[in-house]
Amino acid sequence: NQIIEEIKDFQADTKEKLEVFKSKFTGKKGVITALFDQMKNIAAENRKAFGQELNKLKDIAQEKFKELVEAVEAKSEGSSGKPNDLTLPPIPHTLGSIHPLVQTRARIVEIFERIGFTQTEATEIEDDYHNFTALNFPPNHPAREMQDTFFIEKKKSDSETSSDILLRTHTSSVQIRLMEKQKPPIRSLMIGRVYRNEAISARAHCLFHQVEGLYVDENVGFADLKQTLYHFAKEMFGKDTKVRYRPSYFPFTEPSAEIDVTCLICKGKGCNVCKYSGWVEIAGSGMVHPNVLENCGIDSEKYTGFAFGMGIERVTMLKYQIKDLRLFTENDVRFLRQF
Ligand code: PHE
Repeated sequence: NQIIEEIKDFQADTKEKLEVFKSKFTGKKGVITALFDQMKNIAAENRKAFGQELNKLKDIAQEKFKELVEAVEAKSEGSSGKPNDLTLPPIPHTLGSIHPLVQTRARIVEIFERIGFTQTEATEIEDDYHNFTALNFPPNHPAREMQDTFFIEKKKSDSETSSDILLRTHTSSVQIRLMEKQKPPIRSLMIGRVYRNEAISARAHCLFHQVEGLYVDENVGFADLKQTLYHFAKEMFGKDTKVRYRPSYFPFTEPSAEIDVTCLICKGKGCNVCKYSGWVEIAGSGMVHPNVLENCGIDSEKYTGFAFGMGIERVTMLKYQIKDLRLFTENDVRFLRQF
């Protein structure tokens, strides 16, 4: 009975005190357990009555414990102990926005999907063969230096360069992967991250994104390349955009051309983004070199194709008049919220 009194009088307003209650009464080392242990010392005729009393005591203790837990929980809900004020205005939701590079990528895909381009993906870690050799870069050829490469694993001898492991320097490697497993007609976009060992500045980064396009079929000519990219530029940058093609060199295309569009920042008048020329380069392109087709087991007598590769950062900078490439990766919400 004395224990019952103690149980009933016990006050708990904190979690610590609940623990005290547990160890004193209901826990493994508490009095109730100790009393149960004494059962064996009770005379047989009294044992039943003792056991019943003890069970009652246990029930009382458990009931009290439940009450205490509820009381402590209710208290910690609001520091005043009152229910929350339902008339308070809610905390506003803050919505995120879609990253500008993702928006540009989606727009590029949309434009090319309508003229029949599918999408192909491959890994960012490549071997030298798919990034260079199969694309008609001979071993030790200076053209390899056009793209400063991050190597992951280099083979010791020069004759084995094809199996060096690297981070792809362009998405052209995906062309090879695609043509190895699919035969013409091929009309596909290859989108993804590429890496170059370059100092980070307003105009260059060691990581950026490219969209590659590849079209291989019978009778594909340079006129098809020109018209496709002309169509793209008008759709992406508006009807007044002008496009020009400058002769260029890539080992995997012949002939090759660089593609410029009117600088949208100064509308062709001249600014520091276009270096006062009025034009901004957006892509490299050309007719797929016969060696590249042959390396992938495609008959270069029967089929021809064109390819182009453009930087998503560059297109986005032009479209939204962004002057510093680093903004894309800094994750400053003041920048990101504007899109
Ligand atoms: N891969 C080239 C680059 O990254 C671009 C390119 C792609 C040029 C396809 C021609 C054809 O510079």
